[in-house]
Amino acid sequence: MTDARLHAAAELIRSELHVDIGSDHAGLPVLLLRSGRVQRCIVVEKTPGPLETARQGLGSAGLLERCELRLGDGFGPLQPHELGSVSLTGLGARTMVRILERAPQPPGALVLQPNDDPGLLRRWAAAHGYWLVAERLVAGFWRYPVLRLEPHAGPDPAYLGLPPNAALRFGPHLLREQHPLLLEELQAQQQRLARLAAHGRAQVLQDLADVEAALAWLAHPSQA
Ligand SMILES: C[S@@+](CC[C@H](N)C(=O)[O-])C[C@H]1O[C@@H](n2cnc3c(N)ncnc32)[C@H](O)[C@@H]1O
Repeated sequence: MTDARLHAAAELIRSELHVDIGSDHAGLPVLLLRSGRVQRCIVVEKTPGPLETARQGLGSAGLLERCELRLGDGFGPLQPHELGSVSLTGLGARTMVRILERAPQPPGALVLQPNDDPGLLRRWAAAHGYWLVAERLVAGFWRYPVLRLEPHAGPDPAYLGLPPNAALRFGPHLLREQHPLLLEELQAQQQRLARLAAHGRAQVLQDLADVEAALAWLAHPSQA
């Protein structure tokens, strides 16, 4: 199962050793090992069924020798020195935050592809000493954001000059590159929220304000 979102995640990873938490079919470790972006992989799965699926996927790709498979919850079966490069893909953002908050120490680099609410992860990154160094938006069943985070001191320069709420929500790099999928999504959300705004619910009004701030910045980026 190597769809576009996993290819996008793989392109943001390069490391001698990489850990993929919640691997299931092991699509991402297979891509990483085959392409040479990673020499060795540790796969972590919390349930035996998916761990077995991962073993089969890696076995049929002839990659088992370069992989260790470990049963456990999140960072539980990992040693601190193994946390240089870690990915979590295909999970909800809240589940990812719960897993990340139990890491024994901050991983050296994180590649995250949440199925929902990337804003939650951007906020988590900003509050935990990570900069968002790259992001992608990939078409699929939904639109999938992929984020690469690295630990750095001080405020993240990716957000400089951008409307803060809109950038946290929709992605500072995606805004700067005027990503066509993002523009499409913002226009669709603006239409939907403008219809709902007549009822005056606070959350709808806030959502609409964020969408309109993003669209206004996109229309006049040089004024920021
Ligand atoms: C929807 S699959 C995603 C598979 C793959 N990463 C992808 O992007 O296609 C989520 C997998 O994460 C595993 N998982 C969920 N929570 C986990 C945790 N706390 N620790 C390890 N694995 C977890 C589940 O067992 C499941 O196999």
